[in-house]
Amino acid sequence: MLILGLETSCDETSVSLLEFQSGKSPNALKIHANLIASQIEAHQLFGGVVPEIASRKHLEAVNPLFKMLREETGVSYSDLDLVAVTRGPGLSGALLVGVAAGKALAYSHRIPCVGVNHVEGHLCSTFLQNPDLELPMLVLVVSGGHTDLILMRDFGQYERLGHTRDDAMGEAYDKVARALGLPLPGGANLEKMAVGGDARAFNFTASNMEPSFDFSYSGLKTAASQAMKKSPTRVPDIAASFQKAAITQIKKQVARSIVEFAPKTLGICGGVASNQTLRENLRAVCERESVDFVVPEPILCTDNAAMIGAAGFYRARQNGFPAFSVDMLDFEAQSVWPVA
Ligand code: KG4
Ligand code: ZN
Repeated sequence: MLILGLETSCDETSVSLLEFQSGKSPNALKIHANLIASQIEAHQLFGGVVPEIASRKHLEAVNPLFKMLREETGVSYSDLDLVAVTRGPGLSGALLVGVAAGKALAYSHRIPCVGVNHVEGHLCSTFLQNPDLELPMLVLVVSGGHTDLILMRDFGQYERLGHTRDDAMGEAYDKVARALGLPLPGGANLEKMAVGGDARAFNFTASNMEPSFDFSYSGLKTAASQAMKKSPTRVPDIAASFQKAAITQIKKQVARSIVEFAPKTLGICGGVASNQTLRENLRAVCERESVDFVVPEPILCTDNAAMIGAAGFYRARQNGFPAFSVDMLDFEAQSVWPVA
C-alpha cells in the first residue's frame, strides 16, 4: 500500500511517499521519500513567516516536488492507494494550496484522500522510527505554533492535558532569538548561542502553572528581551539562561504528568524537539521514572510530509480504508482545528 503525504501548513512545502508492508509490525511504514522545500530564505528579510509569501512559495514548489517524487521513487500516480494532505491547523492561504493540490490529485486519479490534522501528524511522527512503541504515550508537541501535552491512548484517541496559555515554545525561542539579533532559524540559532553561555548568569524563571499541566512563555520572553536591552553584550548568557528556564518548566510539567497518568512511553515531537538540551533533560526524566523515551530524528521533528502520510494512513485504517468517492473530498482547509 502506497501513501502520498503532502504538507503546506506553514513555511515548508513537503511531499512524501510511504509504504505499508503487511507482515511487518502493524504500525510500520517505510519512508521511500520525504522531500522538503524550505522557504526560510524568502522570509529571512522579514524576521518571521509572511503568510502571503508562504502561499506563493507553496504554489511554486508543489508541482516540482511532485515531479521530483516521481523521478526519485519511480512511482506513478496510478500506483497510489492514499493521498494524505494537511487540512489544518496552520496559515489559511498556505493550507489552501496543499488541500487544493491534494484534492486535485486524488480526484483526477480516483485515489482515496484524507485531510490530516497537522498536530496529529506530529504525534504520529513518533511511530516512524519506532513503530512498536507502547501506549498509552504521553506526547509533548513543541513547535512554532503548538505547545501541547497530550495523552495518546490509541490512534485517534487523544486527551489534551495541558497547553500554552500564551506563546508556543518555538515562538518564544524565535522571538527571543530576534531580540538577541540572531538570524532565522531563530530557535536553532538560539540553541547554538546558548552553548557558549552561562545558564546561571540571569535568574529567569518561568511562571508556576500548578496545579494545571499548562505552560507559559510570555513572561520569560519579556524578561529575556529586557535583559538584552540592559546587557546587549551578553547574548550567550541570556540565551543559555532563557533556555534553562524554558526547559525547566517543561521538565517539571512532564514529570508531574508522568506521575499522575503513568504512561508507558514519553514521546516528543515538533520543531523544538530537535533541541538537544530539551532531549537530554527529558531523557533523564524518563530514565528516573522508568518510562520509554522516543524522539524522531530532527528531519522528522520539523514540518514534513512523512508524518502527514503516517497520520493519514492510521486514520484511513481506522475507517476501514474507504474506497475513493467524491464525498471524501468534501473538506476545507481549517486554520484552527484542535486535535483534542
Ligand atoms: O514543527 P515546526 O517545523 O513548525 C511548526 O509547526 O511550527 O517547528 C518550528 C519551530 C520554530 O519555532 C523553530 O524555531 C523551532 O521549531 N526550533 C527550535 C529548534 N529547531 C527548531 N527551537 C529550539 N531549538 C531548536 N534546536
Ligand atoms: Zn508543525
